[in-house]
Amino acid sequence: MSPRTLIAGNWKMNLLRGEAGLLAVALADHMRSATSGAEMVVCPPTPLLDTVAAKLAGTPLGLGGQDCHAESAGAHTGDVSAEMLRDAGCGFVTVGHSERRADHDESDGLVRAKAEAAHRAGLIAIVCVGETEAERDAGRAVDVVTSQIAGSLPEASTAANTVIAYEPVWAIGTGRTPTLDDIAEMHAAMRARLGDLMTDSDAVRLLYGGSVKPSNADEILAIANVNGALVGGASLKAEDFIAIHRAAG
Ligand code: 13P
Repeated sequence: MSPRTLIAGNWKMNLLRGEAGLLAVALADHMRSATSGAEMVVCPPTPLLDTVAAKLAGTPLGLGGQDCHAESAGAHTGDVSAEMLRDAGCGFVTVGHSERRADHDESDGLVRAKAEAAHRAGLIAIVCVGETEAERDAGRAVDVVTSQIAGSLPEASTAANTVIAYEPVWAIGTGRTPTLDDIAEMHAAMRARLGDLMTDSDAVRLLYGGSVKPSNADEILAIANVNGALVGGASLKAEDFIAIHRAAG
């Protein structure tokens, strides 16, 4: 049986409280009556978690953080711990997004420590991986991504506490996407690599992310081993994000 499809929205550093509240209400209304069996999760910026959590209460819409520190508490100005996210109502946290790997020099080792923190706090870690354009052009995309997976996954990772998001760096926010064959090849390679690392690798949800929109969601979500999407820009518009959720069937 294929794992349950997950449509996750990464709001990144966007929206203020009023806009976030309206978006959350629209998504919550959709989820109350949704016929799609797919799960939906939103990952707002940390200061908006409370506002969004209040709107999602009592609905099946899930909440996630965008990053967490590896430690549970301490002198780490500006950071948030996985325990704090859990306390704020989150069930998920993305770790190792390429924007954090690039902007904050995050290594596979640090991403792994953050994923361990997520597991410790009872959160599902959405571990992000993806090659740069130069790496793809050099024919190294599969090697880069499978090695990021091996380096970023804690030993205790299971299908219940871990999701992997493949987001080619060059496809994020650019309107460009890999070919459907390239996505299929990568997801098959990821599934195979996970088989060496985990006992329940077939049940791990593998998301595709990078310029997913209503017009391409159908064909991307139909690819073998694609169990959902991690959506940036299109998750900021209720209509678009709902259309992507509907495309998940
Ligand atoms: P876009 O959907 O805007 O390309 O962003 C993808 C992404 O980075 C989600 O984490």
